[in-house]
Amino acid sequence: MTILLTGATGTVGRAVVRQLLEAGEPVRALTRDPARAATLLPDVELAAGDLGDPDSLPSTLDGVDRVFLLSVGPRKAEHDANLAQAAAKAGVTRLVALSSLAAEEAPDGLLGRWHADGERAVRDAGPAWTIVRPGGFMSNASEWAPSVRQAGVVRAPFGDLRASIVDPRDIAAVVVAALRGGHDGAVLPLSGPAAISPAEQVAVLAEVLDRPLRFEELSLEQARTAMARRVPAEVVDAVLSARAVAGPFRARVLPTVEDVTGRAPRSFRQWAEDHADTFR
Ligand SMILES: NC(=O)c1ccc[n+]([C@@H]2O[C@H](COP(=O)([O-])OP(=O)(O)OC[C@H]3O[C@@H](n4cnc5c(N)ncnc54)[C@H](OP(=O)(O)O)[C@@H]3O)[C@@H](O)[C@H]2O)c1
Repeated sequence: MTILLTGATGTVGRAVVRQLLEAGEPVRALTRDPARAATLLPDVELAAGDLGDPDSLPSTLDGVDRVFLLSVGPRKAEHDANLAQAAAKAGVTRLVALSSLAAEEAPDGLLGRWHADGERAVRDAGPAWTIVRPGGFMSNASEWAPSVRQAGVVRAPFGDLRASIVDPRDIAAVVVAALRGGHDGAVLPLSGPAAISPAEQVAVLAEVLDRPLRFEELSLEQARTAMARRVPAEVVDAVLSARAVAGPFRARVLPTVEDVTGRAPRSFRQWAEDHADTFR
């Protein structure tokens, strides 16, 4: 029996693949584009499928007992339901789904609703489930790489807003633990080890790169325009309104990574050291 992974070509999914392979688990990655995926995941069995196309899913579930479910965007709940239901039909016994802290911090916001609806689809499908709810990813800072390389500057909104961002490798470690058992029926909210603001992240990055970096605060409107060059308008609104949720919520430091994996979550400095080449 094997584990079917969705999102395996993305940030969290690639880390999940790596850690499952290290643990000796058999994996299969569902992707819309096997040719591209083969360059990213050369040692992994690939299955062509699209979460938006239910007919493409049953063949990807042949011989699968566990599924990691990661989906993105406004049709997230529909995509989650498609795969969770196909998995139930195929006899899958365990679903581990990536959600977001937005599902509990901002359930009325767009992002929170997409995730809460997706979680419901997973819970209702039938197999045992684990929901993994990370806060903001440390890897979002990769968006800053081009302007850091070119001009030594980071332009971002909410410069002083602290959040306990988490390293995708730690999210993956929790996902892997859940796939291997012992967390059925659990909702696992995840954070990194400390709350840090974008301006403070830039200061850490400057130390790691050993060069001066400038932080320039963007207004919400400027941030919206910059982001709209990369992602659909609906997603821009969802992400920016979720990021604007201030206060004690986003700065919470949660014990889950250490409780589940036995290891303290990585700091932003560790993430920056391990990804310094991206910014050079
Ligand atoms: N960034 C954050 O701060 C943050 C915080 C909390 C939660 N999240 C949640 O984390 C998730 C994003 O994770 P990520 O950053 O690791 O993803 P990512 O790097 O954006 O990658 C997206 C993945 O989704 C797959 N995908 C997209 N549409 C698909 C479809 N129709 N059918 C099948 N696969 C599809 C892609 O696979 P192919 O292209 O190979 O098909 C790719 O592997 C989202 O749900 C987001 O809301 C993000």
